[in-house]
Amino acid sequence: MRQVAVCTGCAMKLRRGIFLAAIAPLILVFVGIGAVLFLLQGGFAPMQIPRAAAAPISATVDVVEHGKYLSRIGNCGICHTTRGGAEFAGGRAFDTPYGTVYSTNLTPDQRTGLGDWSLEEFRHVLRNGVSRHGFLYPVFPYENFSKLVDADIDALFAYLRSVPSMHAPAQANALEFPESRRGAILLWRMFNYRPQNFVANPAQSAVWNRGRYLVDALGHCAFCHSTRGALASLPASGYLAGGVIPVQGWYAPALDDTSLTRFSIDELAEFLRAGTSTHGAAYGPMAEVVLNGLQYLTAEDAVATATYLKLIRVAKNPPAEIHKIEHDLGASAGDGLALYEKHCADCHGKDGRGKENIYPPLRDAVSVLASDPMNAVRLVLYGGVVPTTALNPRPYSMPPFAQQLSSTEVVAILNYIRQQWGKQAATLTPADIVRMQGIVLD
Ligand code: HEC
Ligand code: HEC
Ligand code: HEC
Repeated sequence: MRQVAVCTGCAMKLRRGIFLAAIAPLILVFVGIGAVLFLLQGGFAPMQIPRAAAAPISATVDVVEHGKYLSRIGNCGICHTTRGGAEFAGGRAFDTPYGTVYSTNLTPDQRTGLGDWSLEEFRHVLRNGVSRHGFLYPVFPYENFSKLVDADIDALFAYLRSVPSMHAPAQANALEFPESRRGAILLWRMFNYRPQNFVANPAQSAVWNRGRYLVDALGHCAFCHSTRGALASLPASGYLAGGVIPVQGWYAPALDDTSLTRFSIDELAEFLRAGTSTHGAAYGPMAEVVLNGLQYLTAEDAVATATYLKLIRVAKNPPAEIHKIEHDLGASAGDGLALYEKHCADCHGKDGRGKENIYPPLRDAVSVLASDPMNAVRLVLYGGVVPTTALNPRPYSMPPFAQQLSSTEVVAILNYIRQQWGKQAATLTPADIVRMQGIVLD
């Protein structure tokens, strides 16, 4: 009996030994991969928050003004202010596929804002996306802001210190598990976040490099204009290739030499500052970005941004010929043509050329050319308001048609204009319109 028991023990030990020997290399491989991914997201450094006592900032008026400029172009105020709320007091809600994240108070309030932050801590947070509250959700575009140069971060801090202080405690985020745990962001970072400094490309001009800095670092254009990968990541392959903004239901088109062929550099620079151009007007989230940010671009910075964008080749280019081919539907246009002439042609013209600087053309328009019809549907249902800017102080707007036209009529008009001037197949159906009527309006 005893002998048998011993032998059973031996056999079990042996089996456990073989099992461990077999899985040990696997465990080692996983630990190794984990360690490499951990290092790639920045290692331990992002978690070491400098917590020096806040020192008074002695910045010149020029530096504070520069900080205000940067803050506008970086949209800090758009995201850190609620509609009608105190500027920079935070609390704007960001709906993501995983729940809602709220922005925080950036005013100099001691307890709820940045009042007791040192400059070192502020720099650290913009560079690393980790604050005293833990890992930050990437709805804060720190992937872009980490490329800001120190002088700009310092000017931003000096400016934020100069805005009126507001007591506004952070709202609790409403996220699902595991996204509700800030620790889960470490896992996301390990797969998706690769910190990069801004390195100028010596082969390109100073203007091009300035443009790239404005687009990639401060302007975080990729935040909306890139094709997102798994878990809302921003893979290099989708860089400025166009994409649907998660949850919001707006399509931000590709920004590259093909899509922007329609614009000369000067026209594109003007679009960014004026919010309108001979090739279309800004609407939806882009109208907000122009209204509160890009209209303040200096003429040089606008030209730099346009120069850089006009030289981008994205990996996933839409076919270039869509901009060239005239497609006359003739009699096959059906109801679409008649409805268009009745409801739309007064402003956009029978030929779709619009009225210069008043009503945008539809021939050549980004929402008509885009593979995704979402923006065109939204504009026809809910209308659009062109942003008011110094260069376009009295903009015209487009009325909503949701009450006037049935889903079938909207489909007929949009299929007509997208075939006629966008060379897109007539794929929209009334069911699509009903589905898009359910999208959240902000
Ligand atoms: C697209 C929206 C968006 C933009 C643009 C944006 N932020 Fe934020 N920011 C957020 C959100 C949302 C949070 C909260 C993230 C979280 O709780 O994880 C945040 C967090 C922060 C924090 C961390 C605060 C804390 O207490 O942990 C700082 C600092 C900050 N932002 C500064 C800025 C500055 C400076 C700019 C402009 C250069 C800016 N943000 C632009 C959305 C934005
Ligand atoms: C908050 C999201 C968001 C951000 C940030 C954003 N855009 Fe846009 N942008 C859009 C959307 C949505 C559209 C489509 C609507 C329109 O054409 O106005 C658009 C349209 C455009 C167009 C018109 C394209 C065309 O073919 O007509 C240009 C040019 C543009 N954006 C440039 C920029 C640049 C440059 C930046 C960064 C400095 C930027 N955008 C940042 C959302 C955004
Ligand atoms: C009263 C004049 C007016 C009428 C009528 C009108 N629009 Fe517009 N439309 C505008 C203006 C102004 C804009 C720019 C809106 C913005 O930037 O927010 C616009 C923008 C658009 C766009 C976006 C173009 C782009 O740059 O991508 C589309 C698509 C569009 N209209 C389609 C239509 C259709 C279809 C109808 C008829 C059902 C129509 N519009 C009726 C004035 C009008």
